[in-house]
Amino acid sequence: MRLAAATWPEVSEYLKTKNSLIVPIGSTEQHGPTGLIGTDYLSADAVAREAGERLKILVSPPLSYGVSSHHMGFPGSATIRPSVYQAVLADLFRGFYGHGFRRFYVVNGHGGNEASVRAAFQELKHEGHSGATFQLLDWWKLPEVSKLANELYGNEEGSHATPTELSLTFHLENIERREYQPVPEPPSSAWPLTSDEMRRSFVTGTMRSNPALARGSHGPRILEAAVQGLVTVIGNSPVLE
Ligand code: NI
Repeated sequence: MRLAAATWPEVSEYLKTKNSLIVPIGSTEQHGPTGLIGTDYLSADAVAREAGERLKILVSPPLSYGVSSHHMGFPGSATIRPSVYQAVLADLFRGFYGHGFRRFYVVNGHGGNEASVRAAFQELKHEGHSGATFQLLDWWKLPEVSKLANELYGNEEGSHATPTELSLTFHLENIERREYQPVPEPPSSAWPLTSDEMRRSFVTGTMRSNPALARGSHGPRILEAAVQGLVTVIGNSPVLE
């Protein structure tokens, strides 16, 4: 149930019996030499849309840019500064709240967004917004997804340009596999990083991951695990009256 494909009378009708909204967010940033620049928002949008269908909940258009400063040393990456990202999210939620939405599920595809999303939630509650609930759902951290990622990729999953997110987006974009030769990475790194520090430390843009393991044919299982995870969490989420 896509908000983008609904009309305002349909949304008005929906709000007579429901007040939930799923909001997919991600980023536009490099995902190693074989991963798609849109990986984080494409994946979040795909899992959010399917979960929305099953739960009969409206899904907003994805916010396809995120907090990606550390990736700016790689061509094609784009970023929004954390304070602005927080402000953009808070404005979107203020508007949706005004229409009568109360239960907000942010399905996130990018770890760098987390702090700003939580700060936006806090800001909204600081202002009031009585009856609203906000949940941040990082799709790749759902237990169903972690279990499958461990089964498929073990300790080569890593934390950026992971075979899990690449497999899902390869599936979405009809790619089966791409060759990748892992390169040495520093044993540890401080966080957060500037774009220069990131580019020096992680020269191909991957982080602890082995994207050579990604397969488009794994995508449907990963999508299904994420959707099941979201359906479970959203189906059991707390309600404020
Ligand atoms: Ni990613």
